[in-house]
Formats: sequence, structure tokens, C-alpha cells
Amino acid sequence: MAKKIAVLVGSLRKESFNRKIANELSRLSSDGFDLEIIEIGNLPLYSEDLDQSPPQEWTDFRQKIKNSDGILVVSPEYNRTIPGALKNAIDVGSRPYGSSVWPGKPGAVVTSSISSLGGLAANHHIRQAFVFIDVPLMQQPEAYIGNSSQIWNDDGTAVEETQKFLKDWMGAYEKWVNGFSKS
Ligand SMILES: Cc1cc2nc3c(=O)[nH]c(=O)nc-3n(C[C@H](O)[C@H](O)[C@H](O)COP(=O)(O)O)c2cc1C
Repeated sequence: MAKKIAVLVGSLRKESFNRKIANELSRLSSDGFDLEIIEIGNLPLYSEDLDQSPPQEWTDFRQKIKNSDGILVVSPEYNRTIPGALKNAIDVGSRPYGSSVWPGKPGAVVTSSISSLGGLAANHHIRQAFVFIDVPLMQQPEAYIGNSSQIWNDDGTAVEETQKFLKDWMGAYEKWVNGFSKS
């Protein structure tokens, strides 16, 4: 059976370059991998008060993460750190205390930016949170995609150099996931 990878896109923008990169990773992945973007824009902001009777959106999100074999984040950097919607999703999945859905899911992070820096700061801030929520993260190869507005062909696919990078990177992540049994 194909490995199910939950993909969290840190941008809520309709024409998001990060969403396009996530779609390219899905297209370039092997047959044994099924990438699904799990939407995070509908999740109410986390409050422990609400967890007395959790919103349906939280319950559905938590279940989708539980059902997955791995977590792939594709995100922009906002003000040199993690976009709020992505951080909220991380928090929602981590609670109630003792019932976090994250531990043991093999993860990886891709960041991109319209600047040349490729979202490096956000990439490492996401990694920092993932250490605490016990997601075993692929360390290498790293993925910082710069100039994200300029890497597209007219048909919506990434330019050749970027496609090659994404395919090789995805292959490394597939190996990483295959090294884990489902938790
Ligand atoms: C609130 C906000 C903060 C941003 N801060 C950064 C930043 O710190 N570093 C950076 O490289 N780009 C920053 N950007 C620019 C993003 O790289 C750019 O908007 C990018 O297209 C966002 O990703 P998306 O296309 O997936 O929505 C910021 C954009 C927004 C909307």
C-alpha cells in the first residue's frame, strides 16, 4: 500500500508558490507515495478552553495526521519565522497534553521565498518546533528554494533545474520515510 504523506502548506494564498512546490513534489514522487495537502486555514486558533469540546475541524485534522505515514511541510517565511497558520496547526496537533498526533512521524521541511534566502530562518524555526513535538526530521538534504516567483514554466511545472532538485530531494525523503515503521 502507498505511504500516505500529510503535506502542510504554510501559506493560505490561493496562488501560493509553496502550494505549487508541494504539488510538484507530489507529481515527482514515486508510485509508492501518496501526498495529500491537509488544509490548515480552517483550523480555529488553538485555545485549551476549546479543547474541552474540540471543534470538528481540529478533530478531523488530528485524525488525518494520525492516519499518515509522514509529515511534509512546505512553507514560506513570515517576518523571519513560522507563518501563524502553520504554527497554529502544529499546536492543534500537539494537544490535548498526552495525545499529540505528531510523535514518530518521519518529517521533512521545505521552505521557499521570493527572495534569494529561501526562507532559511523559518526552516530552522519549524525544525525547532518539530524537535519538541518528536517528529524525526530528515536533516539532509536541506531545501531552501529562493526566487520562488521565477521558477515556473508556462504550463505550471517547475523549471528543469528546480524539478531535478525537487525530485532528488523527494527521493531522499522517501528513503527517510521507508526507514520507519508506522507509529
Ligand atoms: C506577512 C508576510 C511576511 C513575510 N516575511 C518574509 C520574510 O521574513 N522572509 C522572506 O524571505 N519573505 C517574506 N515574505 C515574502 C514571501 O516570501 C512571499 O510573499 C511568498 O510569495 C510567500 O509564499 P507563498 O507564495 O507560498 O504565499 C513575507 C510575506 C508576507 C505576506
